[in-house]
Amino acid sequence: MNFQNMDVVSIRDFNREQIEETLELSREMLPYARGEKVTRMLEGKILGNLFFEPSTRTRLSFESAANRLGAKVIDVSQISTTSITKGETLADTIRMVEAYSDLIVLRHPHEGAARLAAHFSSKPVINAGDGAGSHPTQTLLDLFTIQQEKGSIDGMNVVILGDLKYGRTVHSLAEALTLFGAKLTFVAPEALQMPIETVKHVENMGGNITCTNCIDDVISDADVLYVTRIQRERFPDPAEYEKVAGMYRIDIDALREAKKDLIVMHPLPRIDEIAPEVDFTPHARYFQQAFNGIPVRMALLTLLLGGSL
Ligand code: NCD
Repeated sequence: MNFQNMDVVSIRDFNREQIEETLELSREMLPYARGEKVTRMLEGKILGNLFFEPSTRTRLSFESAANRLGAKVIDVSQISTTSITKGETLADTIRMVEAYSDLIVLRHPHEGAARLAAHFSSKPVINAGDGAGSHPTQTLLDLFTIQQEKGSIDGMNVVILGDLKYGRTVHSLAEALTLFGAKLTFVAPEALQMPIETVKHVENMGGNITCTNCIDDVISDADVLYVTRIQRERFPDPAEYEKVAGMYRIDIDALREAKKDLIVMHPLPRIDEIAPEVDFTPHARYFQQAFNGIPVRMALLTLLLGGSL
């Protein structure tokens, strides 16, 4: 399958076959991601990292993935040091980064920014999160984690808990899980439930969804519990945030009725929605999940830039 020069703006840019191929290559990347084997497959290539919002995992794992492949990274880590503060438009900034690199990774606070960037760039653009929109590469590493940890995605009962309204990772994830025939349960306070557009899309794909606001009712059937933080920065009114802050928390007690082999995932950063005591249970997978960003992003860069192992 040819991925070369493809933009990754939404998980909808992929069909199931393409996702499977990416996950397969991610598996092959594991020893390189761990530094057990060495490759210079993307030597001479330059990745342009453009992050207009805070990031630890996404930015560093793209950088680490590029380094592991022998590519170089140019990076705007402080927007205040660029001409954006002089009023340069996103379109012009993208034109510049395009001229200086072979692929652009963009994180931006506005939904639709990655689509706009892809329009102005003839080089591939990867959406590393656009506001409350989507986060397709996080979804690829989430799927990879489920596949690695549970053996398959098909038929899994995945409970997604948290801020489903503003959390971009869960928008992409719900759609991709449906493509793989997983069963979805959305757990959120009423005000933070999954946007209707995503629910409709999942239903049109033939998805099987249950919505509730009570985790205790659904935890015992879960194979995967995917927790997210409340996206404080996206609330138009701080008073609205205060109403929902601290409404859910997974601790050892909350997992009492869970299956022995339930895995708990989280895109991170976590604030207080998973108690640190859970880290030491056999359920915790969020740190492994964060590591998986390396092999998955190595696979994606390789596919888009035409490298081969
Ligand atoms: C997420 C994001 O930025 O959307 N973080 C990440 O990329 N791993 C989740 C979040 O910020 O809550």
